[in-house]
Amino acid sequence: MRRFDGLTALVTGGGSGIGAAVVRRLADEGARVAVVDRDSEQARAVSTELGGLGLALTADVREEAAVARAVADAVGHFGGVDVAVNAAGYGAAAEVVDMTLEQWRGVMDVDLSGVFLSTKHQARQMLRQGRGGVIVNIASTNAEQPAEGLAAYCAAKAGVVMFTQVAALELAAHGIRVVGVGPGLTETPATAALLQTSGALAAYLDNIAAGRPAQVAEIAGLVAYLASPEAAYISGETVYIDGGLRARSYPTLRQRRGEAYAGSAFLRGQA
Ligand SMILES: NC(=O)c1ccc[n+]([C@@H]2O[C@H](COP(=O)([O-])OP(=O)(O)OC[C@H]3O[C@@H](n4cnc5c(N)ncnc54)[C@H](O)[C@@H]3O)[C@@H](O)[C@H]2O)c1
Repeated sequence: MRRFDGLTALVTGGGSGIGAAVVRRLADEGARVAVVDRDSEQARAVSTELGGLGLALTADVREEAAVARAVADAVGHFGGVDVAVNAAGYGAAAEVVDMTLEQWRGVMDVDLSGVFLSTKHQARQMLRQGRGGVIVNIASTNAEQPAEGLAAYCAAKAGVVMFTQVAALELAAHGIRVVGVGPGLTETPATAALLQTSGALAAYLDNIAAGRPAQVAEIAGLVAYLASPEAAYISGETVYIDGGLRARSYPTLRQRRGEAYAGSAFLRGQA
């Protein structure tokens, strides 16, 4: 028995990156999955991989009518929605003094209002069904870690964390869990350019204890766990998965001691 046998999932931003990996993981574990994305081609490409278990839906999470329609179409096709994952999102880079209101609103509309609209209509459907459900909102380490040039993104993701807590409180009595996942730097099309910028990648890696970015399958594994009955007592929580990125808010030992630091005495003894 796989963890999502007989269940239906809906994933926003399911056409790429983390969302697509979540689609694949939930389907591997038995779910039928509605792949929702504003990019129809990408949604169709990912959905096609699942054969009869997939359904491609085009919707922009900024538009309430489109979000509601996507939920209704998933229900029309599969009969219900048991698990929803809200991964549609992006970041726009500009310093506060340069950022236009349009850039600010663009990020807020997708990353925060999109999560609100998606959760609202997914939860309404779960309430109509009366058998509970799970909603997983994708936040980011930037909900906790301020990053220059990413004010809107950081504020939106911090908003997602708090929104998730409030929605969880409101819906818990109905057997609906709302939880968050906060990835650190993850290899996706959205970060491809950054990962190819050698200086930028090196600066990130200096601060990622794991020494590498996350793979999307690792994020999807955590999402699947949180969406499964094994996580039945986790509610309102955002779980970070960052290879130690948030813990490294202090200069490394090598940075602090400089060239003179030869490394662990124990390890030198082992060599
Ligand atoms: N990649 C990372 O390092 C990282 C780290 C932390 C959090 N995240 C978050 O993970 C989520 C997925 O990011 P990713 O890196 O996989 O990006 P991605 O660009 O690979 O995928 C995002 C998907 O969302 C879709 N999308 C964007 N705006 C939309 C809208 N308005 N309506 C519907 N669909 C829309 C895009 O078409 C795309 O298919 C985002 O919320 C992002 O903020 C990513």
